[in-house]
Amino acid sequence: MLRQALLAASRSDGVRKVMETAPLTRDVVHRFIAGETIDDALRVTGALADEGLLVSLDVLGEDVHDASQAEAAVKHYVELLERLAAAGFGGRAEVSLKLTAVGQAIDEDFTLENARRICTAARSASTTVTLDMEEYQRVESTLRILHELRRDFPDTGAVVQAYLRRAEEYCAELAYEGSRVRLCKGAYAAPESVAFTGKGEVDKSFVRCMKVLMGGKGYPMLATHDPRLVEIAGALAVLYDRDPDTFEYQMLYGIRPQEQRRLAELGARVRVYVAYGEEWYGYFMRRMAERPANLGFFLRSVATR
Ligand code: FDA
Repeated sequence: MLRQALLAASRSDGVRKVMETAPLTRDVVHRFIAGETIDDALRVTGALADEGLLVSLDVLGEDVHDASQAEAAVKHYVELLERLAAAGFGGRAEVSLKLTAVGQAIDEDFTLENARRICTAARSASTTVTLDMEEYQRVESTLRILHELRRDFPDTGAVVQAYLRRAEEYCAELAYEGSRVRLCKGAYAAPESVAFTGKGEVDKSFVRCMKVLMGGKGYPMLATHDPRLVEIAGALAVLYDRDPDTFEYQMLYGIRPQEQRRLAELGARVRVYVAYGEEWYGYFMRRMAERPANLGFFLRSVATR
């Protein structure tokens, strides 16, 4: 119930305005978000790289309905990728891209061209792009764009959300040689008709999907903080005889940082998803929806100011 309310609030302009103008939110928000500028993103990337962690950088912003905003997002990504290359982070940091930030709500061809420009810049920076997966209504369009991009940029990463009833099917289609696939539970509201809504069902689907990906020929990117699922991932790596460099764990910046380091120290590839930028509201509210304890932390910080 609380999760649904927070996800509804994540799409509410009214709540967003109140939250954005509240001076007190900044410190709490920065627990999950690297900062607002490319300099902030590079600083955090450097610190994580020093600890042996890989990074995926996400420029905050989504659901753009204006072509000029989409163009600004493309330019920002291109600049970020140039700066990443100049700083020598090409091998350690890639970017994550929400297609709604570059025009998916406007036109699919326009979005594809924009994503292509970002993939071209990523290739020049010796790195890759992963297409985040957003609301369930966007899944088919995102997969079409992914397949088009993969003709020229086969290393473009896909995302499968385990809460979707079709998740296992998507994994089977994507588990081919060279295919980078991030598996996550799914962070958006979705109806029973298309998604599992109970935690147990979502977790079971995640395990089934992991089996398909880890048993397949692609490069699985297992994005979860769930201790049980991380343990099962390790067991599947043994079962399918996977070398540590043939898959990776992924976690969000600010969530279970000690676990990120522990896995990296054991020799696993661990990538931290680092979001930065001014448009933090939707991202932050989805993190709140995932874990009511974070909401308590947030409200306490409001009360003690
Ligand atoms: P779950 O939420 O069940 O949590 C399991 C445990 O992890 C908790 O008990 C707690 O210990 C810890 N934990 C989880 N969330 C926490 C939090 N916010 N704060 C503190 N502890 C927390 N979604 C999507 O729809 N599209 C996408 O493209 C992506 N991309 C993506 C990339 C990466 C790298 C990650 C890690 C996640 C995503 N997600 C996503 C989000 C994902 O779908 C999911 O909402 C969150 O990862 C939370 O699910 P968990 O698997 O962590 O389990």
